[in-house]
Amino acid sequence: MSLETVTALDALRARIGAWKREGLRIGFVPTMGNLHAGHHSLVELARRHADRVVASVFVNPTQFGPNEDFARYPRTPEADAEGLRAAGCDLLWLPSVETMYPYGADRAVRMRVPGITDVLDGAHRPGHFDGVATVVSRLFNQVQPDAAAFGRKDYQQLAVIRYLVRDLAFPVELLPATIVREDDGLAMSSRNQYLSPQERALAPVIHRTLLAMREAAVAGSSRAAAEAAASAALAQAGFAVDYAVLRRPDLTEPLDGEDGERVALIAARLGKTRLIDNLEFAMPAR
Ligand code: PAF
Repeated sequence: MSLETVTALDALRARIGAWKREGLRIGFVPTMGNLHAGHHSLVELARRHADRVVASVFVNPTQFGPNEDFARYPRTPEADAEGLRAAGCDLLWLPSVETMYPYGADRAVRMRVPGITDVLDGAHRPGHFDGVATVVSRLFNQVQPDAAAFGRKDYQQLAVIRYLVRDLAFPVELLPATIVREDDGLAMSSRNQYLSPQERALAPVIHRTLLAMREAAVAGSSRAAAEAAASAALAQAGFAVDYAVLRRPDLTEPLDGEDGERVALIAARLGKTRLIDNLEFAMPAR
């Protein structure tokens, strides 16, 4: 299968317009490149829900904070294109910063998603999720997909996109994708490549701690006790913990004894590398 690459909006619109006139359904996978097996699984998921799959690679300046290094974000264009082609992607959308932000990133019209963007990762990375919502809105307008795949690993990002799609009535079906894990439980992430061998050996403690949080919650532990035990276990293993929390799917705080859907979320740093992971589960009715 061949992969066509387009860098101009006119060419993208022409290609997608032709597919739509043929009655084909368009699946979309937005990425920032440096792709790994987790991204490839998003393409495969989109493929199962669409006739043609478009992926974008765009390192989005508006979602980087002043202390986060946009310029040093890894760019691996050849490997990305090869991986996308092998996974079954039909079209690679590769916009420049000027194409994405014609007035410049500093003068761009911005999305502001209230509430959900200010907690957890949003509190640690102010403005990050507004930048994500800003670029995803543009990408949806450019690609006009029928369905779009997002990983469940970036749980808060998925929650923000759900809010955005509902609030702005984007006619896009969201396809949340299962977290892809290494054999030892570590969630796949572009950031894993920065871990030293010692840090890499410790990193699966995050997944084990999520499993312990679920076990404690289902067994009837209070939320505060389960969260405190998780933070202590991570700190003991050598992590600097940003948060280890139990939340409802909309990221609000559940009451003790409340049943329903739950998600355990962890963000913790090993050396300079910040890792995030989560585990979704249901609380039994009591
Ligand atoms: O998850 C990502 O890679 C990015 O946040 C996204 C959704 C492509 C927006 O830049």
